[in-house]
Amino acid sequence: MTDSTTTYTGPERVFSGVQPTGALHLGNYLGALKKFALLQHDMECIYCIVDLHAITVFQDPKTLADQTRHIAAAYLASGVDPAKALVYNQSAVRAHTELAWYFNCVARTGWVNRMTQFKDKVGKNAEKASVGLYTYPVLQAADILAFKATHVPVGEDQKQHLELSRDIAQKFNNDFGVPNFFPHPKPLIDGPGAKVMSLRDGTKKMSKSDPSDASRINLTDDADAIAKKIRKAKTDTGDVPATMKELEGRPDIANLVGIYAALANISEKDVLAQHAGSQFGPFKAALADVAVEAMAPITDLMSRYLADPDELDRILSKAGDKAAEIADPIVADVRKIIGFRGA
Ligand code: AMP
Ligand code: TRP
Repeated sequence: MTDSTTTYTGPERVFSGVQPTGALHLGNYLGALKKFALLQHDMECIYCIVDLHAITVFQDPKTLADQTRHIAAAYLASGVDPAKALVYNQSAVRAHTELAWYFNCVARTGWVNRMTQFKDKVGKNAEKASVGLYTYPVLQAADILAFKATHVPVGEDQKQHLELSRDIAQKFNNDFGVPNFFPHPKPLIDGPGAKVMSLRDGTKKMSKSDPSDASRINLTDDADAIAKKIRKAKTDTGDVPATMKELEGRPDIANLVGIYAALANISEKDVLAQHAGSQFGPFKAALADVAVEAMAPITDLMSRYLADPDELDRILSKAGDKAAEIADPIVADVRKIIGFRGA
């Protein structure tokens, strides 16, 4: 299906979300949070902590609210300004669940069956997974389209989910004869941070669920931990090459070069130009400096935000009310379009 947004004439709006499950890592920061902060200067931005997605896998009721505050603190520490962007938790805005049901009736099971993230997550145990985990990407489409968001900053692993959102928007518009009602949201996936790989295995994504803590840099790691993990990162027997072509087939090195580029805000080519021929010892030392310089202020700010949970709650509640003011009329229009009595 097409991904054009050319016929949609509504305002440009950014929406994205992160699940409140487990500690955030460098992949989340470079793939998502860093872009969140940059975009708020140019467009209206809505950033959600997707607690409804989190419960597709059982979450301890005693810790869920704190996990949500933890992600909120990470957003703010990464530079998201609550005076510019909305930061709220998904379950506080009913429009998400309501629109998700309507979209469950628009999306085809064949589309959802193709989602590789579900298949990767459940492996051979699909029958034991919650129905919510299966329709997870339909809820994601509802998140985005409840705000008629046009742009969605995410890491590369979300590309397929975004395609599904576009297909749902298009089918809704077609089925109900409302050609430009929903925009076809565009993913914003670019730059070397879009797919950060494990420090222990450059062919695997850096992930919260990797049992090895050495595989990732957590947003809560201190300078020593960051430097140690980078020093121990997997490399090969060569040295730093001079050209991008020579990075092919060397996923561990390509990953370190990509991380360096994303953190230092330079191109991968420039990283190579600066370090070509260097052995990995000194290259890793330089990378550790860049990483600590970029991450230490975030770690520090995050703990300051977390020290005042009441203030975080005030920010989340206020933004939740504002988010509902935007989404409720859109979902009310959807009800009318579907043709419910009383809508
Ligand atoms: P998650 O932690 O899976 O909820 O992901 C939150 C955001 O971080 C999404 O936009 C993901 O695409 C992004 N993300 C997660 N892991 C990575 C990674 N290894 N590299 C780049 N982006 C990532
Ligand atoms: N599925 C996304 C992830 O795991 C999180 C998410 C939920 C999201 N709803 C969203 C991302 C809407 C972007 C837009 O990372």
